[in-house]
Amino acid sequence: MERNRRHFIYMDHAATSFPKPREVIEGVAEGLRNFSANPGRSGHFLSLDASRTLFEARETVARLFGALDSRQVIFTRNVTEALNLAIYGVLEQGDHVVTTSMEHNSVMRPLRDLVSRGIIQLTVVPSSKEGVAEIAGLAEAVRPEQTKLIVVNHASNVTGTLVDLKLVSQIKGEALLLVDAAQSAGCVSIDLSSLDVDLLAFTGHKALLGPQGTGGLILKTGQEPVRPLIRGGTGSHSEFEAQPEFLPDKLESGTPNVAGFHGLAAGIGLIQEEGVEAVRDHEKRLTATLLEGLSQMDRVHIYGPRDPERQTAVVSINVDGMSSSEVGFQLDRNFDICVRTGLHCAPAAHRTIGSFPQGTVRISMGMSTTMGDVEEVLEALKWLVSH
Ligand code: ALA
Repeated sequence: MERNRRHFIYMDHAATSFPKPREVIEGVAEGLRNFSANPGRSGHFLSLDASRTLFEARETVARLFGALDSRQVIFTRNVTEALNLAIYGVLEQGDHVVTTSMEHNSVMRPLRDLVSRGIIQLTVVPSSKEGVAEIAGLAEAVRPEQTKLIVVNHASNVTGTLVDLKLVSQIKGEALLLVDAAQSAGCVSIDLSSLDVDLLAFTGHKALLGPQGTGGLILKTGQEPVRPLIRGGTGSHSEFEAQPEFLPDKLESGTPNVAGFHGLAAGIGLIQEEGVEAVRDHEKRLTATLLEGLSQMDRVHIYGPRDPERQTAVVSINVDGMSSSEVGFQLDRNFDICVRTGLHCAPAAHRTIGSFPQGTVRISMGMSTTMGDVEEVLEALKWLVSH
């Protein structure tokens, strides 16, 4: 049956931001309409227009994250592909990797695959029950001359818990630091020019407000030893059957999603107009109100730091006596409130915070969320808890 889609409260921004701003929709449409010849492949004016569009999107991303050169921004389909590119591209036989127990399966699964094939050794450092990375534990786990990679998420997709990247970079030694910025890019400021982060993986469809099918990996210096995940046509050096050695072509093969990245650039434009700090302040206020309201409900258990300064606008809860999926179902059916329930593709994180295997009800907010939305969610939960 068709539901009334005019009134809904979308609290699933950690999965994908929605609804997309008009500018992003128009950006994608304009990309499809005007810039959809094949970039970098042909010499005609339409191909050049597409190349310019992709270049401008790359420059926009580079500016947002303080990247040295836009050629070091490698476009991928999503953050999962970016993380796989970094993990499979860097690691070799005998390497040691350090990560935390709050990571998403887009980090855990590639790492576990490499462990199961006897290629790497892995140390998973337990985070606290609030999801906070233990810096001393990470420092202790790093093995001089053997640890090739440290992987941490900047913000947990389950609890929103933020990791202090400055502290992690101080203990990395010679290892490369790969940051999963899936949940922070666009809503927490990240400036690679002042951070010792070697590889930054981001997605376009969450807080950057762009369409699905866009993401990327940024290389801090461009000298990081990353092998391609896929090889193929780049439009450059077609006379050679070997993959080009220069960026971004070395790590990007096949026709790219020009319209998608044009839409992503429009999303980033909106964030820059507002300012990442202003977005963060707005989300802190929403989180504070949500946490305050939830903390007054007897049957509600809140996970994570319970502190807007130490988390993104992501709050995980459970209601005593109800499964997370039942709460999500009731919110959807009775109140048209959209949340994500269960394990959020991060079983290790749920083990860490003590919610495995039942999972949690995750309420995740974004730039377009209003205080009125938060109040409606609190009212709905109050009703659920008292019935
Ligand atoms: N990783 C996304 C989430 O946390 C899809 O929902």
